[in-house]
Amino acid sequence: MYDVLIIGGGPGGYIAAERAGQAGLKVALFEKNSLGGVCLNEGCIPSKALLNSSKLYSHAKDSSAFGITSENVSFDPSRVIKRKRKVVKKLVAGVAQAMKTSDVDVIASEAEIETAAADHFVVSAGGESFSGKNLIIATGSEPLVPPIEGVREHLGSNVITNREILELEDVPEKLVVIGGGVIGLEMACYYQTVGSQVTVIEMLDHIAGNIDPEIGKRLQAVYEKQGMKFHLNARVMSVSGNDVTFEQDGETHTVTGDKILLSTGRRPVTQGYGLEKLGVEVERGAIVVNDKCETSVPHVYAVGDVVGGYMLAHVAYREGEVAVNNILNINDRMSTAAIPSVIYTDPEVAWVGKSEQEMESLGRESKVVELPMSFAGRYVAETERGNGICKVILDAKTNTLAGVHIMSQYASEIILACGVMIEEEMTLEEMQKIIFPHPTVGEIVREALFKFEN
Ligand code: NAI
Repeated sequence: MYDVLIIGGGPGGYIAAERAGQAGLKVALFEKNSLGGVCLNEGCIPSKALLNSSKLYSHAKDSSAFGITSENVSFDPSRVIKRKRKVVKKLVAGVAQAMKTSDVDVIASEAEIETAAADHFVVSAGGESFSGKNLIIATGSEPLVPPIEGVREHLGSNVITNREILELEDVPEKLVVIGGGVIGLEMACYYQTVGSQVTVIEMLDHIAGNIDPEIGKRLQAVYEKQGMKFHLNARVMSVSGNDVTFEQDGETHTVTGDKILLSTGRRPVTQGYGLEKLGVEVERGAIVVNDKCETSVPHVYAVGDVVGGYMLAHVAYREGEVAVNNILNINDRMSTAAIPSVIYTDPEVAWVGKSEQEMESLGRESKVVELPMSFAGRYVAETERGNGICKVILDAKTNTLAGVHIMSQYASEIILACGVMIEEEMTLEEMQKIIFPHPTVGEIVREALFKFEN
């Protein structure tokens, strides 16, 4: 009898397995594909490998401003893909090794929930049955295919998702991106940089979901300057061959793409593995959990994208840990006060906490300082672009940090410290006493903190 059966070996599942194994629990982890899930195999990691190549390429082309002459700079997509595969292979092997050292039994088969008795669960996989006292569902998410006419017929050929776009060995001359969210923008950034003519079609009046509106506009302007086209308030109606037809301001337009990326969101995977036999509560397609990652059925936990909401690998990690701690009877709860969001475009955009608009809608008064990134010496030393921005929002009543929004290189790394300040509810005075290394781009946060009146 296992202490924990975990279905799904992505960030939620494998971290849960590792933590549980390290704590001395007997763990079985079921994974039908490759360990690491979407994040490692067809999401976060491979896209970052690609984006680093496109960044190097654009920096090499722009290097003359830094006193470097580089001639005949070229881009070889097939070598970039090859390197990406190497990176993925290495990290997947790392997860496999972590499972070994944590004494986790990895079952490389599709799992099916068979029965749920009062004191145990039975899961079958690869012709065997496994019994466990606790069950963690970490089955992740899959691309949402919206009911756009013609999309399903073309899916996998010229209409592609995050999976196929990371495997293209040729740079499409024209790429149409349906959905200007995180996946859409990261891939648009990569392909525009390496030579595609990219068109982004977004239903909302802004790109990047709940990004700070001003930063969203700035990011859009960066890419427009490079030739990317954006159609906002534009709803895609149909795909026919290579033509994408959308409606905007009551008019119908058509754009053509050699490839069409479908990045209109993802949906939790709740079917195909016997979840219904457990009777857990599912709402709007996602498993309902409380802040201990418990489902409506005792001893059944759910973590990661399958619970909907944030759908971020770093949230899944933490949820995996919370679930395991609660299995171990250690009281642990999810806090969502400081979940960082990052878009790995060039420049990067990162934010944590609340926006001015959210503060307003919550009826909370805020104080805002907005600084150009040129207030940080290292930013000026290292970039010629000068379009970065940092916005720091304080809760006027408590003088604690409410949110930070940054567009700059290293934004993804800088935001980490801001999350700690929010989570720890530090006051302005306390934050001002933090010593930042100099020179760093992140010093912009310290600079902004001193622009507030105490
Ligand atoms: P998303 O939810 O970020 O963006 C989808 C966009 O498509 C939305 O802006 C929506 O308004 C638009 N849309 C939907 N239907 C449309 C239509 N018919 N016509 C035009 N626009 C339409 O979803 P995305 O980009 O697919 O990403 C999926 C998940 O993956 C997200 O939850 C995200 O958190 C995660 N992810 C995170 C990354 C990161 O943290 N850097 C990177 C990539 C993915």
